Amino acid sequence: MDFFISPIQLLQSISLALELSAGGLSSHQWRVAMIADHVADKLDLTREERQTLVHVSLIHDIGAAASWEKVAGLRVGKSADLYAHAYAGYTLLKDSAAFHDMAPYIRYHHDRWDGNNISGLSGKQIPLLSRIICLSDNVAIQIDAQRFIFDQVPGILENIREGSGTYFQPELVDVFLRIAQSEGFWLDLINAYAFPEFFKRVGRYGDICYSLEDVMDIAEILATVVDWNDPFTGGHSRRVAVISEYLASQKGFCSDEVKLMRIAGLLHDIGKLAVSRTILEKPDKLNSSEFYIIKQHPYYTYHILHNIEGLQDVAVWAAYHHETLDGKGYPFRIKGESLSLGSRIVAVADIFTALTEKRPYHATMERDAVRQIMQGMAQHGKIDGSLVAVLFHDPEKINYLIAHVFAIQKK
Ligand SMILES: [Fe+2]
Ligand SMILES: [Fe+2]
Ligand SMILES: [Fe+2]
Ligand SMILES: [Fe+2]
Repeated sequence: MDFFISPIQLLQSISLALELSAGGLSSHQWRVAMIADHVADKLDLTREERQTLVHVSLIHDIGAAASWEKVAGLRVGKSADLYAHAYAGYTLLKDSAAFHDMAPYIRYHHDRWDGNNISGLSGKQIPLLSRIICLSDNVAIQIDAQRFIFDQVPGILENIREGSGTYFQPELVDVFLRIAQSEGFWLDLINAYAFPEFFKRVGRYGDICYSLEDVMDIAEILATVVDWNDPFTGGHSRRVAVISEYLASQKGFCSDEVKLMRIAGLLHDIGKLAVSRTILEKPDKLNSSEFYIIKQHPYYTYHILHNIEGLQDVAVWAAYHHETLDGKGYPFRIKGESLSLGSRIVAVADIFTALTEKRPYHATMERDAVRQIMQGMAQHGKIDGSLVAVLFHDPEKINYLIAHVFAIQKK
């Protein structure tokens, strides 16, 4: 099976998930990428370095996806909290086949130029791309999109000038101050329609050929981030992936399709990043608006994934996991005949996993009780009965899967 996805589409989608995790669409990482790319334009960076810089900028706060409240408002400096998310991002990516080269730049993205850092690095020991991101991040974080931008510019410039030689490399500050003379530069940072143009332009820096295994590996990283955000069901995404893979192989999917099913399982709840932790962590029953908020998550899963050409099937399989055959599921209310087998598989895998997990509102359930509930759902036209039959057909296999599911839970 030929497999190609555009690196910028992939990074744009991941950054969308991260932007949504900051309590609404923050555009923070998009702004950082835009500013960093302007700075790179004035330096002698190769196209490859510029591409890496944009990619790193787009996900530089990946380590903060589950702790925005803590990170918001922090600036450069010797702060353990600030360093913690940079280090968490580094740890997430450092062993990834596709993204490991980005890890060190993320690790040092809050290091000060004058060296007062937990890392012990100073000046040019700090990677150049991290220095650029550090400066760009500080500009971006000061922008309040609700206020008139040109009322803010003098104060932002003053703060950046003040940080020259301490927080930021003086030469980079000089480059930035030259860029900042352009009104268009500032207008691009606050206009939503400037971002698609930006992505189109930086997409031309070059192609990276990601294999299907690379994308699986990236999906594993994102599943970790999603599961961080939901402490009650930590490991849920991986468990859904295991069951989805199993059902797909039993239903005759080819080996590449089984891998794509695994990706769909890993990413099915990525839209939960858009749901605040306060709601996800709530131990009592949700009220009706909270329930509506949580029910939005597959909508966001769809919008995060469907723009990646090559992963459109995965987007549909992943995002329709709360749709039901009778058309009464959510959020798209798609009817049975329009639900592909892949979508039905993730739905069944998700229900099976949820029932075997301990949730704030129910304890772990015995296998027979799970089977009865799922057979009942199939009889009531909610889920595909043939998949429920496959799931409970081989008792040995189901025992193994349940053991595997719990082994993941304990990790
Ligand atoms: Fe950061
Ligand atoms: Fe940041
Ligand atoms: Fe879900
Ligand atoms: Fe789920």
